[in-house]
Amino acid sequence: MAAAKTKTVWFCKACGNESPKWMGRCPACGEWNTMVEETVATGKKSGTQSVSVPGAGQKPMPLSEIDSTREQRISLNNAEVDRILGGGLVEGSLVLIGGEPGIGKSTLSLQIPLHCPNLKTLYVTGEESAGQVKLRAARIGGDDSNCMIYSETLMENIIAEARAMMPDLMIVDSVQTMFSTGVESSPGSVTQIKETAAMLLRLAKETGIPVILIGHITKEGSIAGPKILEHIVDVVLQFEGDNRGTYRLLRSIKNRFGSTSELAVFEMTGKGLREVSNPSEMLVPMHEDGLSGVAVSAMLDGTRPFLIEVQALVSSAAYGTPQRSATGFDARRLNMLLAVLEKRAGFKLSVKDVFLNMAGGLKVSDPACDLAVVAAVLSSNFDFAVQSDICFAGEVGLSGEIRPVAQADRRITEASRLGYKRIYISSYTSLDMEHEGIEVVKVADIPALCRSLFKG
Ligand code: TYD
Ligand code: MG
Repeated sequence: MAAAKTKTVWFCKACGNESPKWMGRCPACGEWNTMVEETVATGKKSGTQSVSVPGAGQKPMPLSEIDSTREQRISLNNAEVDRILGGGLVEGSLVLIGGEPGIGKSTLSLQIPLHCPNLKTLYVTGEESAGQVKLRAARIGGDDSNCMIYSETLMENIIAEARAMMPDLMIVDSVQTMFSTGVESSPGSVTQIKETAAMLLRLAKETGIPVILIGHITKEGSIAGPKILEHIVDVVLQFEGDNRGTYRLLRSIKNRFGSTSELAVFEMTGKGLREVSNPSEMLVPMHEDGLSGVAVSAMLDGTRPFLIEVQALVSSAAYGTPQRSATGFDARRLNMLLAVLEKRAGFKLSVKDVFLNMAGGLKVSDPACDLAVVAAVLSSNFDFAVQSDICFAGEVGLSGEIRPVAQADRRITEASRLGYKRIYISSYTSLDMEHEGIEVVKVADIPALCRSLFKG
C-alpha cells in the first residue's frame, strides 16, 4: 500500500474549527490560543469522514408514511438519569457524558450496567485496567453477570467486537483515550476525537446499539474537549458542581429526544452515586434561625422547581476599590443588581465588598433568583435576618421594579410543599390558582420589598 499523503492543518481545541495556518484567535469561536497543529491524510480518506445513517440511499418519502415506532426507550433503572434523558435511553443513540476528572463519570457509567442486569453491556475501558474496573464494581455492588469489560483503545477492534457481540448497551470510557489507525494524529487530538465519535455514531445508527461515550473537560480546556463533539452526538449530559463536595449535578445540555436544561442531583457515597430525588434538601441547608445574609429563592431549573439558599456577605471595603465576587451566579448580573440598589433604592453599596454564593455548587441562570439575591445582600448589609420560612421569586429590572417570572404557580406550590409560610413575588404576576397554607406577598419594587421584609 502506498504511503498516504499527509498535510498539516491547525484545529481549534475549543470548537474544532480547521484552518490551513496558525492563528492567535480562532475565527469561528473567538477563543485565543486554542489552535493546535495536527497531521491529516489528504485525498479521499480525510480524518473526519461523513457519517452514513441508516436509510442512506433511500428515496424521499412522505412524512405521514414514516414509521415512528422505531424510537424504543430503554430504562436504565435510575430514575434521575432516565428522567433527564427524556424517559430512558433511545435505541441507536449516542450519548456524551462530559465533566471534569474525578467528578463521577466512570462511576455513573459503571453503575448503570451493574443496576441493569437485564441489559447485555459492553464496557470499553481505555483509561483504567480491567482490574481497576473490577475494584470499582465491587465498591458499587449490584449484579455484574451481564457486563463485559473490554480493555482496548483501538477503535477498529472495538467496532468489530461490538458488531460481533451486539450488546444492548455499549459504554466507552473515554473518547480521549481512543484512536483509529485511519487518522494520523495521536489519541486525544481533535481529529482522533472526531473520528472516534463518528465511528461510534455510525455503529449506533447502523446497529441500533445505544452508546454512552465519556469525555473529559478540564478547567483550562487544555485537552481537546467534548465541546467539538456536541453537534455530532444526540445527547450531551454534563456533570457540574464541585468535585470536592459530595453532591454532583448532571445536566442535559443537548437532547434530540427530550428537553434540555434538565438537572439531576446525585450524592457520591461510599457505594457509588445515590439519586437525590428532592434536591431542595441539599440546597437549603439546615441552620439556626436569625442568620443574616441568607435568603431562599424558589427557582426553576429546566422544568423542575426547587428552592436554593442564596448567601451574601456585605462588608466595608478594605481597599479603595470594593471587591465583588459571585459563586454560581453571574458576576455582571450581581453588579447590575448592586447598581440598581444604589441608584433606585438609595443603598450605599459602592463602598462595600460584596460576596455572593449559591448553595450546593449550583450554577444559577434563572432570573427569578434576583429577588433572593437582593434580599440576601440587604439582609447582610443591615445585619437583619430574613425569617427562615420566607422565600422569593422575582426578577429585578433596571429601574428597580420587580418583574414577574415564568411558572409562578409551580414555584409557590413547591415552596408550600416544603413548608415555607410566605413567598414574595412581583405585583404584576397573574396566578392561575389559589394557594393555601402559604402567604403570597406581591411587591412592585425594591422599596416595597424592604418595607414589607424589614419592618419591625
Ligand atoms: P470517577 O467516576 O472515577 O470520575 P471520572 O471518571 O469522572 O474521572 O470518580 C471517582 C471519584 O469518586 C473518586 O474521587 C472516588 C469517588 N468514589 C466514591 O466516593 N465512591 C464510590 O463508590 C466510587 C466508585 C468512587
Ligand atoms: Mg473516569
